[in-house]
Amino acid sequence: MNTVKTVRELRAAVARARREGKQIGLVPTMGNLHSGHAALVTTAAQQADFVVASIFVNPLQFGANEDLDTYPRTLAADQEKLLQAGCHLLFAPTVEEMYPHGMAGLTRVTAAQLSNELCGSRRPGHFDGVTTVVSKLFNMVQPDLAIFGQKDYQQLAVIRAMVHDLNMPVQIIGEPTVRADDGLALSSRNGYLSQEQRAIAPELYRHLKEMSKAINAGERDFAELTARHRAQIEEAGFRTDYLEIRHGQTLLPAQATDRDLVVLVAAFLGTTRLIDNVHLNLDGGH
Ligand code: PAF
Repeated sequence: MNTVKTVRELRAAVARARREGKQIGLVPTMGNLHSGHAALVTTAAQQADFVVASIFVNPLQFGANEDLDTYPRTLAADQEKLLQAGCHLLFAPTVEEMYPHGMAGLTRVTAAQLSNELCGSRRPGHFDGVTTVVSKLFNMVQPDLAIFGQKDYQQLAVIRAMVHDLNMPVQIIGEPTVRADDGLALSSRNGYLSQEQRAIAPELYRHLKEMSKAINAGERDFAELTARHRAQIEEAGFRTDYLEIRHGQTLLPAQATDRDLVVLVAAFLGTTRLIDNVHLNLDGGH
């Protein structure tokens, strides 16, 4: 696996693969890779002939008081994991390479309206930062397909909307969330948790599962169900940012008649913000 740091080297390596008739798969990441990322690369390697991963901690998607400076940067360990998972090329640019004229006057991609809800309402500008960097990566690599984790459910929906709305010729694949044995969704931010917080963290998924079980069993008083579980989550030691039942595709507030639903949560343990979700299709599809 080669690592390149410039757009010029990236384009040259991708062009070589294209000339060999290879299909290109892209896995955008911010590094500090775990088994969830490895699953993205494995899927990309199954669906494409040449897998490009990117590692870039994108300043544009971090708010002023967020963890941009402390976000873990572990390039050597990440390279090893990417190699093991079947990646062919790593693009690991500097901020200057991605934003050579700075970020102040930059052309940006405004994310679809659904980006103003949920995480977007708590992290203003976050999804515009994501859509801007992802469209830059799409333009640099011009992949046939790109893989994103379903743990970031709203991010995946926002990226699908961007690709649809802007006619981008790339297939978007959502990869199921990878979990620790106790159910906690793998995330680079789990490393911020103290031992005590780590022991409490799986409670989030336990509540999501209980809520989906209740919905599957016919519960339709979503407001009551959400309020009850929110109170229990808070009692367990979390500060809940949101706990919501939404339509699985539009992310609009769920109606009692909806069949495609997603239960989404964002909650703080200390200063660490965890997100998770469970998607339910009451008609049995995915
Ligand atoms: O999910 C992430 O790691 C990031 O938001 C992404 C998609 C790599 C864009 O910076």
